[in-house]
Amino acid sequence: MNEILIAPSMLASDFARMGEEAQRMQSVGADWLHLDVMDGHFVPNITFGAPIIKALRPHCSLLFDVHLMISEPLKHLGDFLAAGADQITLHAETLTRAQLMDAIVQVRSAGKRVALALKPATSLRPIVNYLHELDMVLVMTVEPGFGGQAFMTDMLEKISQLRKEIRRQNLDVTIQVDGGITCETITQAYAAGANCFVAGSAIFNADDPAQAISELRSSCYFFEKK
Ligand code: DX5
Ligand code: ZN
Repeated sequence: MNEILIAPSMLASDFARMGEEAQRMQSVGADWLHLDVMDGHFVPNITFGAPIIKALRPHCSLLFDVHLMISEPLKHLGDFLAAGADQITLHAETLTRAQLMDAIVQVRSAGKRVALALKPATSLRPIVNYLHELDMVLVMTVEPGFGGQAFMTDMLEKISQLRKEIRRQNLDVTIQVDGGITCETITQAYAAGANCFVAGSAIFNADDPAQAISELRSSCYFFEKK
């Protein structure tokens, strides 16, 4: 069974106090810190870039999980690696095959983890042959761009297909889901085969984020994995 990882999304944090917020996530039991980079082009929203991530680095020693929602990720990859990203997630929709290979080489040579993200409408098929090159696949369960949206249950089938394929190839690839994660939807996503869960509103809007994280985690255990 894969380890369950909870990754609070800093998109839902108080941007005026990001250092403290990152530190707080570490102290309340988060496994990874999810950092949503948006360029106002690939997605309709703009958030933050490498300088902010660099500024956060001294405040938190969790794995920095950088989700790049930008049109030209290769242009900026070096900056994000230098800023302290531990894992870089690139959107499949932003890359040619050659660019994907180039990105994988760059991230690996920096000794970091590399992942591919799929928007809800993006098919699993083209990435099946690249799974052995990846540490993680992110299945988006909302349209990327904003926090606080509802989980798309029709993505559960994509998650189970992906888990089946990873098993068939006998690989150790993390499946992350991002968007609309709550105690109900995490149960479904885990049962379908996901093991890493990004949560923004469910953690930052909770009165007690430590309890929110532990409830998310324990919600996974009531279902047997397929
Ligand atoms: C959306 C972002 C998510 C977002 C999730 O494009 O990638 O990481 O913060 O927020 P919630 O958990 O509120 O859906
Ligand atoms: Zn994200």
